[in-house]
Amino acid sequence: MTQRLSLAPIAFLAITILAPSLLSQQRVIDDSVISERSNTAEWLAYGRTHSEQRFSPLRDINDTNVTNLKVDWYLDLPQDSGLVATPLVVEGVLYFVGQVNVIRAVNATTGTLLWEYDPKSGEAIGTKQKTGWFHNRGLSFYKGKLFAGTWDGRLIALDATKGELLWSARTFGLDEALYITGAPKAFKDKVVIGNGGTENGPSRGFITAYDIETGKEAWKFYIVPGNPADGFENKAMEMAAKTWTGEWWKHGGGGNPWHGLTYDAELDTLYVGTGNGSPWNRKIRSPEGGDNLFLSSIVALDPDTGEYQWHYQTTPGESWDFNSSMDIILADLTIKGEPIKAILHAPKNGFFYVIDRRTGKPISAEPFVATTWASHIDLTTGRPVEIPGARYETGSARVSPTPAGAHNWHAMSYNPITKLTYIPSIHMSVTYTDAGIDTKTWRSVPFQGGMGVSNKRYGPEPGKAYPASLQAWDPVKQQLAWAVPQDNYWNAGTLTTAGNLVFQGHANGHFLAYEAETGKTLWDTDLGLGISAPPITYKINGRQYVTLLVGFGGSVAGLGGAGELGWSYGIHMRRLIAFSLEGNATLPKQPAPFFPNPIDPPDFKINPDLARAGSQLYELCGYCHGGGARAGGMAPDLRASPIPLADALFDDVVRKGSRISRGMPSFANFSDQHLSALQHYIRSRARSTKPAEASAR
Ligand code: HEC
Repeated sequence: MTQRLSLAPIAFLAITILAPSLLSQQRVIDDSVISERSNTAEWLAYGRTHSEQRFSPLRDINDTNVTNLKVDWYLDLPQDSGLVATPLVVEGVLYFVGQVNVIRAVNATTGTLLWEYDPKSGEAIGTKQKTGWFHNRGLSFYKGKLFAGTWDGRLIALDATKGELLWSARTFGLDEALYITGAPKAFKDKVVIGNGGTENGPSRGFITAYDIETGKEAWKFYIVPGNPADGFENKAMEMAAKTWTGEWWKHGGGGNPWHGLTYDAELDTLYVGTGNGSPWNRKIRSPEGGDNLFLSSIVALDPDTGEYQWHYQTTPGESWDFNSSMDIILADLTIKGEPIKAILHAPKNGFFYVIDRRTGKPISAEPFVATTWASHIDLTTGRPVEIPGARYETGSARVSPTPAGAHNWHAMSYNPITKLTYIPSIHMSVTYTDAGIDTKTWRSVPFQGGMGVSNKRYGPEPGKAYPASLQAWDPVKQQLAWAVPQDNYWNAGTLTTAGNLVFQGHANGHFLAYEAETGKTLWDTDLGLGISAPPITYKINGRQYVTLLVGFGGSVAGLGGAGELGWSYGIHMRRLIAFSLEGNATLPKQPAPFFPNPIDPPDFKINPDLARAGSQLYELCGYCHGGGARAGGMAPDLRASPIPLADALFDDVVRKGSRISRGMPSFANFSDQHLSALQHYIRSRARSTKPAEASAR
């Protein structure tokens, strides 16, 4: 009898393991499960586990057999454009977010769609927020719920089994010039979300935590102080205010935490990577100087209360858009024989930091690209030693790195076996100048934005013949282990595995596997469309999958910085693709890179005054349709579109909002004169760009 009784639960267990039922959660996914490094069947958090390492112990696919990697399954996503997200895999289901925050659940072994949830972000944006980005980098999973931020500023919770809305919290008002592109972070029955928008108008960044069950606000932490006359929210703000001068609150100050959020389950601390200044130019923001806390910092908070614990500022008094929003990876290192609980951080400013996460003290910091704004980091003070002139204090300044960063949001990864960090690195320089800007009177306008300084003439970094590279950085020695030069910048994030591999997708459409120890290219497949999203890996029913979203996106696709690649809007099929050693699916071929041909009817008489007025207005469009009306793939190239030539259609799209659900905002307050100015500007761009570009191809 006793034997029988004890057998029953075992048999029951066997059934659940053999027949996992998709979309019915078997177990509670909490912090201990999300922290579990040996769990290779799933990818539970943005960076796989709470450590954010993007390292998988899987080695079925490895340096000896990766050449046999084949497409296992794929899902066409004809409605999408820029895909930048990291998918999650939970109990056999893969969840991802696509264009305009549409969330989908698919079977992680077949790609079959299980459910789709559309938060209708375009409609919510409506006429109110004309700037920002409709791309999104990821989701968070906790105790059966899926959390997502939306472009228009909501944090939503879905029932992961059904894709049904459980609650929705508005994290900022529609009248605030902010947006969300980042993944929320759920831990300890709370979920936190930040925001972006330092360029969109006067902006004061903050992060908010909500109760996962009710969506009720649990705490809120501002990154920069407000007007002292209104009183400070907490002691940290009082301290921070001492590092600001002038009337900074009128400019917002910035600091928006739009990306790096890491929960340290071991030390029970939340680390927040904070944004740059709003506006960028400190002469405007804080005219008498000052460090401007907590801009461009890692701020450690009590995860239960949001109370300040410590901070480390990577770029005091930042003036270049050198935010510290990038990945915050947790790693256990041994440095000079000492075990160190470290943060690995490679922000835009070009230095690689190893920070003691118990104290916030920098242990080491070395440049991983040319840093012409600072010679080095003085570890006794923790401060950069700046190079005079770099702050464009005496005229224009040629600076490396650039606002694109030495490293941007494209994920870096850390492999505890090779002990190397894999950084998608950018090697460029740019000229900053505020000549012609009256720093005393300059104001940014909500939703029209501005930086208070121009950044122009992007070029290579001194001494480099290439604009980007994949770098393997040794955080202990603080030196380069190897680098693979790349011809295009804006390459995707990395994944590294115990199979001695690093995977990375490129802007040029190639997806590659490198030997993690040496950087040797082991496998290279052309997916026919620029890649901006990082791959993930997981193992189900004995098969290891490497899966990624393919669809060129992000700010460079929006601003048109990569127009030469030919990833024009709506031409190439966006896809979710899974690879395995056993795969035998064939991807339909992509069309060749496509370069839209500007339309230039000879009888269209361009009115120069209207065109000039239109060029000002066009700044509202350039975020998505590309600077100078040369698109990079996030939206149609307006020079080549027939719609601006047809008054009624142009009115429908631009003023009446007929494409709102696709992420094209409506500009309902435009006058006929505004529309006409834009039409003349677009034609002038078509005319002036046509001959040169047509002959170049
Ligand atoms: C947030 C991004 C965004 C901004 C800002 C934006 N657009 Fe768009 N626009 C889009 C997207 C995406 C589409 C394509 C929608 C679709 O697939 O139907 C689009 C489509 C259009 C089209 C139709 C083109 C065609 O051939 O189908 C026109 C015209 C247009 N936009 C004009 C403008 C103008 C003018 C502005 C500025 C006043 C502007 N847009 C600002 C994202 C944007």
